[in-house]
Amino acid sequence: EWSDEAVVYVNGVRRVLPDGLAHLTLLQYLRDIGLRGTKLGCGEGGCGACTVMVSCYDRTTKKSLHFAINACLAPLYSVEGMHIITVEGIGDHHRGLHPVQECLAKAHGSQCGFCTPGFVMSMYALLRSSKQPPTEEQIEDSLAGNLCRCTGYRPIIDAFRAFAKTDDSLYTNSSLKNADGRPICPSTGKTCSCGDETNINANECSLFPPMKSYSPCSY
Ligand code: FES
Ligand code: FES
Repeated sequence: EWSDEAVVYVNGVRRVLPDGLAHLTLLQYLRDIGLRGTKLGCGEGGCGACTVMVSCYDRTTKKSLHFAINACLAPLYSVEGMHIITVEGIGDHHRGLHPVQECLAKAHGSQCGFCTPGFVMSMYALLRSSKQPPTEEQIEDSLAGNLCRCTGYRPIIDAFRAFAKTDDSLYTNSSLKNADGRPICPSTGKTCSCGDETNINANECSLFPPMKSYSPCSY
């Protein structure tokens, strides 16, 4: 519906943008409305602490597009009509952590925590924009704009590896079947109880870890 108001959606809430805010970045606006999970680090696009996800609708392809952006660089009005998801929008201790947040916490990928919302949102945006589970290389690439001064990156990469595409050949490798020929879970070592390999490949076997969807990791 046509409107002469400038509107953004933030974590599912419609917000009318008043006139006179052309001097604000998206980051300043988010923090001004109380969403302080998104951090101001460098203020010039270098550290990723301010990363949020922006979604918009492409009328040509008729698809929603999702991007991780540096909110410190985006003028507020440049995201008019778009949907902004911040780290508060995907989960918290009251409503439950999003798997991306949970994995990072359990794998000790957060120390002082300043960079953490940015890493979480870069990873979340990658998952939202991927049709298939990303490869480990894609995950590392998506985090290239996020800096961390504490963890040395390894725990962060290890945490997010839970979302990476697993080599499908694991399923068809005969060494991963038991004596009855039933497939064995490559992660848990358990034998599939239903014995239907098509369920495994469709990620519907309850015994097997999530392979083709983004579910809580098993750290
Ligand atoms: Fe460092 Fe935005 S605050 S990239
Ligand atoms: Fe401290 Fe990353 S956890 S900067």
